[in-house]
Amino acid sequence: MMPRHLVTLFSAFLFGLTLSFFGLPVAQGATKHHHGIQTQPFGTQDGRPITLYTLTNSHGLEVRTMNYGAIILSMRVPDRKGQMADIVLGHDALEGYIPNPPYIGALIGRYGNRIANGTFTLDGKTYTLPKNDGPNTLHGGIKRTFDKVVWDGEAKKGGKPGVTFTYLSKDGEEGFPGNVKVKVSYTLNDKNELVVDYEATTDKATPINLTQHSYFNLAGEGTSDILSHEIMINADRFTPVDKNLIPTGELRPVKGTPLDLTTSTKIGARIDDDYEQLVLGHGYDHNFVINRKEDGMALAARAYEPTSGRVLEVSTTQPGVQFYTGNFLDGTVTGKQGHVYKRRYAFCLETQHFPDSPNHPEFPSTILKPGETFQSKTIFKFSTR
Ligand code: GLA
Repeated sequence: MMPRHLVTLFSAFLFGLTLSFFGLPVAQGATKHHHGIQTQPFGTQDGRPITLYTLTNSHGLEVRTMNYGAIILSMRVPDRKGQMADIVLGHDALEGYIPNPPYIGALIGRYGNRIANGTFTLDGKTYTLPKNDGPNTLHGGIKRTFDKVVWDGEAKKGGKPGVTFTYLSKDGEEGFPGNVKVKVSYTLNDKNELVVDYEATTDKATPINLTQHSYFNLAGEGTSDILSHEIMINADRFTPVDKNLIPTGELRPVKGTPLDLTTSTKIGARIDDDYEQLVLGHGYDHNFVINRKEDGMALAARAYEPTSGRVLEVSTTQPGVQFYTGNFLDGTVTGKQGHVYKRRYAFCLETQHFPDSPNHPEFPSTILKPGETFQSKTIFKFSTR
């Protein structure tokens, strides 16, 4: 017989082996998840290595992202019973994102949403951009847009699990002026918040509008449409659009319209109302003017899914949020685990400056000048009810 302390040692050794076999940290013994950040190779693109970063907080929430397109691949959060599910659309492998026509999970730039007729004038000079949305430029152009380039990634050292992505967008890229240095970081804290910090500088004046294009389904991605989710958008006004989805310039009160989401409302309640703006957007695809008393963080929206109890709150320093109900998803994209992404299988809450701001001097300015640093922050907070 083995002496008792040796048996204990031996079983501790076996336990450790089992844990490391499943990729769990031996040192943490019985904890079920690896709090911190893990990196793994995830293929190559443009001849450069792509790294997958897995951020896990002390409650076991997990966010995966990669340096291709600064894309967020998954967000695993608990329901009211503690059951985890992945609540964003995405793909299992890098190849699924090439191409990625719906911009699933991607970081958008230089200019999120539309610029009318693919042109703007700045300091007396007219710039021409590639058109990829009828007459418009959508989400920054066609080739080297922020969702399609390889960023430099660096895991944050110490502190909360996080990763910082940087990218240099060269002067003239997709028609935009100036060498723009962009820095985006994702940090997952123990308040169950995914914090997105944006920073940019330039050497020539240029418009800039950065956003995160995650597609949420709080019941779990790929399982159903989002029409029975409830949504509250903290906005008394929105920017109505014309037939090309370009803002008319008006800031219209939501009161008395199906865009009044100031109190929690089922997304499906009025989405197909015969209201001109919903007809034009094929559902919700509108920029809301976030109510705020001062600069700094303000609540933009809160979404709730009744069966799981999951709640997502989005707050931001940005003036607007695009509420898009996945109206253009049409089942042509097959995502994780073979899930087919059909119409309205997810919604986006894209914090942003107003669409087409470079052609609307009356809107808050999106022009970044040399010597200035653009900074903004958006927080996605997960909880249950
Ligand atoms: C934004 C736009 C939508 C659509 C999606 C991507 O939400 O406003 O019209 O382009 O991006 O498909």
